[in-house]
Amino acid sequence: MRVLVTGVTGQVGGALVRLSGDAASDGIEIVGVGRDRLDLGQPGRIDGALDAVRPDLVVNPAAYTAVDKAEQESDLAFTINRDGPAALAASCAERGIGLIHVSTDYVFDGTGTRPYRPEDPVAPLGVYGASKEAGETAIRHALEDHIILRTAWVYAARGGNFMNTMLRVGKERDELKVVADQHGTPTAAVDIAGAILAVIRARLAGAPVASGTYHYTADGQTTWHGFAEAIFDRAETVWGRRPIVHAITTDEYPTPARRPAYSVLDTAALVAALPSLPHRSWHTALDEIIDARMAAEETA
Ligand SMILES: NC(=O)c1ccc[n+]([C@@H]2O[C@H](COP(=O)([O-])OP(=O)(O)OC[C@H]3O[C@@H](n4cnc5c(N)ncnc54)[C@H](OP(=O)(O)O)[C@@H]3O)[C@@H](O)[C@H]2O)c1
Repeated sequence: MRVLVTGVTGQVGGALVRLSGDAASDGIEIVGVGRDRLDLGQPGRIDGALDAVRPDLVVNPAAYTAVDKAEQESDLAFTINRDGPAALAASCAERGIGLIHVSTDYVFDGTGTRPYRPEDPVAPLGVYGASKEAGETAIRHALEDHIILRTAWVYAARGGNFMNTMLRVGKERDELKVVADQHGTPTAAVDIAGAILAVIRARLAGAPVASGTYHYTADGQTTWHGFAEAIFDRAETVWGRRPIVHAITTDEYPTPARRPAYSVLDTAALVAALPSLPHRSWHTALDEIIDARMAAEETA
């Protein structure tokens, strides 16, 4: 089974490509493409990109992911996150192939009081969330054979993410302030890639996960402040020091885009559909990723 993966320079796309060896042993050939070969901002060219690779399945983690900048670049965000996936889904439908599309917890408004289920009403607070939600809707209309996998708070050893920002800033400063009233689940890109691979394996084994929308994150929940403290718990073992992390409110740290106060996702539907789904606590995953990140830093 040949699987085209978009956004190979990104956290999730890159993690999937790094699992190519694992996938190959199960008969899954991962073909990663960057924006140069498949540009979601040029929907008219997506057919050609698919014809060049001739995949049996497409995985689309590529997206416009700059949450704050999206408030100023609404047209671009919607082109990449709605029109690109719409064209991709239409191309998949024409070719009779499936699409696994990655989406976000930011489709919810955060007023929930229990983990969000896939079928809960969406109400994005910002342009980024709205553009991702529009992409989801376009895919549902264009292609029956789809899995929309919403995830949250993605980080990896490489890439622009909260963990790497904390490690950079925490090294330079003795004190910093981090928002403590937004709740979610940090999720390692490699774990999302592993979950996607499990979905692909089930398909190949003839026991596919039914088309639809699912949630996948690590287990548990925290706040950005809790995430920062966990990062520094680990970093301290290498640095021999840690910054003081002051808990602040969202109101004290205004950003261009509003973010949900609570965007914990309920993953039960995917766990039920795929009992072999790998999952672990966000804390366990963080310790592993941070160790890899800091080991790379030491040898650099
Ligand atoms: N990051 C998070 O915290 C988070 C949270 C929830 C859900 N998600 C979702 O998870 C998915 C993966 O996120 P991520 O963190 O891995 O993203 P990321 O690291 O920001 O990478 C985004 C990828 O999309 C590519 N891309 C951007 N514009 C493109 C275009 N016009 N055509 C083709 N590729 C384009 C980028 O390529 P270039 O290098 O060329 O720009 C990059 O490879 C996304 O769908 C995102 O919405 C992310």
